[in-house]
Amino acid sequence: MSQIFPSEVFAQTADFDSGIRQLLPRYDEMLEVITRCLPSTTGRILDLGCGTGELSLKLLNRYPQAQVIALDYSPRMLEFAQAKITNAGYEQRWRGIEADFGEWANYPEKFDFGREFDAAVSSLAIHHLEDEMKFKLFQQIADSLTHNGCFWNADPILPELPVLAEVYKTAREEWIDQQGIELAAVRAKVGTSDTQGYSSQDQLATLDTQVQMLAIAGFETVAVPWKYYGFAVFGGWV
Ligand SMILES: C[S@@+](CC[C@H](N)C(=O)[O-])C[C@H]1O[C@@H](n2cnc3c(N)ncnc32)[C@H](O)[C@@H]1O
Repeated sequence: MSQIFPSEVFAQTADFDSGIRQLLPRYDEMLEVITRCLPSTTGRILDLGCGTGELSLKLLNRYPQAQVIALDYSPRMLEFAQAKITNAGYEQRWRGIEADFGEWANYPEKFDFGREFDAAVSSLAIHHLEDEMKFKLFQQIADSLTHNGCFWNADPILPELPVLAEVYKTAREEWIDQQGIELAAVRAKVGTSDTQGYSSQDQLATLDTQVQMLAIAGFETVAVPWKYYGFAVFGGWV
């Protein structure tokens, strides 16, 4: 298998957009929930771990006045995202930055894009940080939002009990099966990864743990607007 950065998922970046929809139940619905939870007046948005730009694109489509700053540590994912955003005609409203969001959490002064974001979002990326870094990142996000700003994260969660791990696994396998795809065929496209910067293999935390982290990190109101088996959209407002 090809060596990739944690969370790039597929050995070939071009396989990501179709492959992620085969592997994960309701991927588009999950991202759509994030876009719906932002205020209609949203201006500045921070997208952490933008990947091929699918979430950024949905946000730019929904909020015509929004500007997105998108971080990703993978040059090839960023390149792919940049081409997609340019193709959609949004290049003036999107800036991709090659950076590790763990580095931003620890050393925000090294970054030139400042604070005062109306919203921060992330999908399928933060679960690669250890819990201590997740908490630091949540704190940094809270500090970087305007008053009443919000943060939404879509991520896999740690099953609370082994019995639920089985339930979640079966649901995912059935999803793949329903599409008439061989699990082995999708898995064959997946790359292998070691630690890269602050991210390593899945570092899942329960939803309850992360909701508590958000409250301690400075979010006045926390919420879980969507959950489907082992995936959830959670976050809140400062
Ligand atoms: C599974 S992809 C999801 C991309 C996109 N958010 C989506 O939902 O389609 C996760 C992305 O997060 C990036 N990533 C993971 N850890 C990161 C880190 N510590 N700093 C910056 N980017 C990171 C990976 O390079 C990858 O592009």
